[in-house]
Amino acid sequence: MIAAYADTDLPHGDSPELTLVQATPTERVESIKLNSTEWKGPLDLDSYLAREDTLLQQRLTKEALICWILVDRRAPENARTILSSCETYKKTAVVAQDGNVEEASVQGVGSVYCRPEFRGKGYAKRMLEELSKKMDAWQLEGEQSERPLFSILFSDIGKRFYAQFGWKPHPSSHFALPPLSKEEYSTLSTTAAVKVLRADDVQRCMCSIGILEKERELLRGVSLQSSGPKVAIVPDFDHYQWHWAREEFYCQRLYPDRGIPAAKGAGNDAVKVYCAWNRTFGNTPEENTLYILRWVYDEPASQEETETTIKAMAAILRRAQLEAHEWNMAHVTFWNPTPLLHRAVALLDPAVEIVHREKDSIAALRWSGNPEENVEWLLNEKYAWC
Ligand SMILES: CC(C)(COP(=O)(O)OP(=O)(O)OC[C@H]1O[C@@H](n2cnc3c(N)ncnc32)[C@H](O)[C@@H]1OP(=O)(O)O)[C@@H](O)C(=O)NCCC(=O)NCCS
Repeated sequence: MIAAYADTDLPHGDSPELTLVQATPTERVESIKLNSTEWKGPLDLDSYLAREDTLLQQRLTKEALICWILVDRRAPENARTILSSCETYKKTAVVAQDGNVEEASVQGVGSVYCRPEFRGKGYAKRMLEELSKKMDAWQLEGEQSERPLFSILFSDIGKRFYAQFGWKPHPSSHFALPPLSKEEYSTLSTTAAVKVLRADDVQRCMCSIGILEKERELLRGVSLQSSGPKVAIVPDFDHYQWHWAREEFYCQRLYPDRGIPAAKGAGNDAVKVYCAWNRTFGNTPEENTLYILRWVYDEPASQEETETTIKAMAAILRRAQLEAHEWNMAHVTFWNPTPLLHRAVALLDPAVEIVHREKDSIAALRWSGNPEENVEWLLNEKYAWC
């Protein structure tokens, strides 16, 4: 959209003429073009637009994504200046309270953007205020199945900005391990067998009805121990497919001769420990990261089982480090590790320290209608990011 304003004519961020509306398809493309300077990374503009269209076709987002734009209500569709923009994605969560477990509709918020020349005028703030109001109204009046009980986002600009609108920061820590070459990997003594998981293995080992049922039970148990809602984004197979569509898009564009990577995770069937991963490609090789999207394992019931589980995790991490090396990834990273994963990392390298993020990928959650609600977010792992 061609800027319809001279800089001095730009409306105030608190102008009553501003409104948050759903972008038309043309305006959605325009907003992606605008934010490309921030997020296209190693892709050219056409590839970036194609990436967004590819992601929009995924089951996770196909019917679930809305592109929002802040505009002047008086301007006509497809000719209005985009002052600020963002996306929301409908997701499903499990919510447990006092032993009762239910499914709920929630929203993810992403791609919050204001073009550089319009920054500092209050447009992003106004957009998030309007979005909060919409979420609250939606919760009260929307179709029952559509009412967002809460919304999540992952802030790359610290903890304060989104908190003023009710998106409260939640634990945002990670471990980062270096890649391992084939030579380094082969000299390490393997203490547990590791099998590489393909997409269908991930579906079978990490997304079965039994596994999802176990997660519900986990939430139910935790909800009996303290008050306040315990929530998790349902870690269904659609999430993994979305992340892999993104990784495969980059692999095809950046490494057209290599083919699509088939290894989507690693696990140990005997101990029943599994993880799924995806490769992300940043602006520079140093930003390339193999993210472990999620871990699945049975809680050990004895000291011996604990030791076996930790060793299996450590061996799986080694395999992830090898995979990272093969795809030119600078790190293997996984979010909010459990105590057992702390011990697995210590087994590999006692010097590795947990990172508590203060700026990037801060997991934040806003309870619709009552941002003060004391919520605990479980399974707060990378799979839920989008
Ligand atoms: C972040 C962004 C959307 C803000 O848009 P904006 O319209 O300039 O924001 P507003 O004018 O409404 O609000 C300005 C506030 O944003 C906050 N802010 C902006 N950029 C920030 C940054 N990089 N880190 C922390 N806070 C930031 C400041 O707190 C500022 O507050 P102040 O008014 O008290 O100084 C815009 O800078 C942008 O598009 N950045 C690049 C993309 C991005 O990082 N998006 C966020 C992804 S989570």
